Amino acid sequence: MVINQESEVFKSITTLGKYVGNTPLYEIQHLSPKPKVKIYAKMEWMQFGGSVKTRPAYQIIKAALESGELGTGKTLLDASSGNTGLAYATICARLGIPVTICLPENASWERKKLLKGLGVNIVYTSKFGSSDESEAKAHEMYNNEPDKYFLANQYNNENNWKAHYEGTGPEIFEELGDSITHFMTGLGTTGSFTGISKYLKERDPSIQTIGLQPDGALHGLEGWKDMETAKVPGIYDTSLVDAIKHVDTYDAYDMLKETAKKEGILLSPSSAANLKGAIDLANEIEEGVIVTLFPDNAEKYSEIIKSLF
Ligand SMILES: Cc1ncc(COP(=O)(O)O)c(C=O)c1O
Repeated sequence: MVINQESEVFKSITTLGKYVGNTPLYEIQHLSPKPKVKIYAKMEWMQFGGSVKTRPAYQIIKAALESGELGTGKTLLDASSGNTGLAYATICARLGIPVTICLPENASWERKKLLKGLGVNIVYTSKFGSSDESEAKAHEMYNNEPDKYFLANQYNNENNWKAHYEGTGPEIFEELGDSITHFMTGLGTTGSFTGISKYLKERDPSIQTIGLQPDGALHGLEGWKDMETAKVPGIYDTSLVDAIKHVDTYDAYDMLKETAKKEGILLSPSSAANLKGAIDLANEIEEGVIVTLFPDNAEKYSEIIKSLF
């Protein structure tokens, strides 16, 4: 059954659209190593839900309401170790849609509390199985009860990268145009890398797009996947990858501390890792404009912040 577009839930998601995206593009002031290399980052926590994942979550939920897959009593189900779960939860709390999230049991207490506070039903998976095991659990639950759930399936849902292709990419290009020489960001579901790179390359094929990876399977960069060892997301478009660069977790933590002191921003580990990747690249080139993302800030990482300061 397709839901009536005049219904309250439909009006509510449409109104919510004005709080999604349109985040500020921050120019790195003091950490850029060369005067002729500019580094910019989208401050993605400055939107409803507090992270980059609000964009895909919103698009996935809106499309499912439009197609009638959601909004008629079904529960939204997905695997997430963090921000996507919180984004689904904030949007669905407002819409009155129930949410079930499969989460590795070693997720931080803050995530668990926030999800619980937002009314999410959490299904824990083993801490040894990472997000791949949570994903498998979500698929198993959906296969057992397909009438009960809408499986949002962020790793394979085209609306994930499309949210960035239609939103983040155009926002970046509108501000910087063809002055951009490089775009780079960490690979998780790869939605942000795929959607933004595709849009920027269509506008200017000379823009180099670089995927960032952790220095190994065991890392502390929440939101990143090590593509060598993890299950590769279905939406990952490797034809958009001009290069892959690696960032060490401890270098990202050092960057987090430095950014706080010199730029006055408290970043999350993956945001700091993106900036570290951009600064490493800036050291390799003579001039250019490098764009990256700050997926979220330090707010949800009190255990890491406690150990660093
Ligand atoms: C903090 C953080 N950084 C980076 C990413 C990676 O973004 P994407 O899933 O678009 O590849 C995520 C995704 O969940 C994230 O939560």
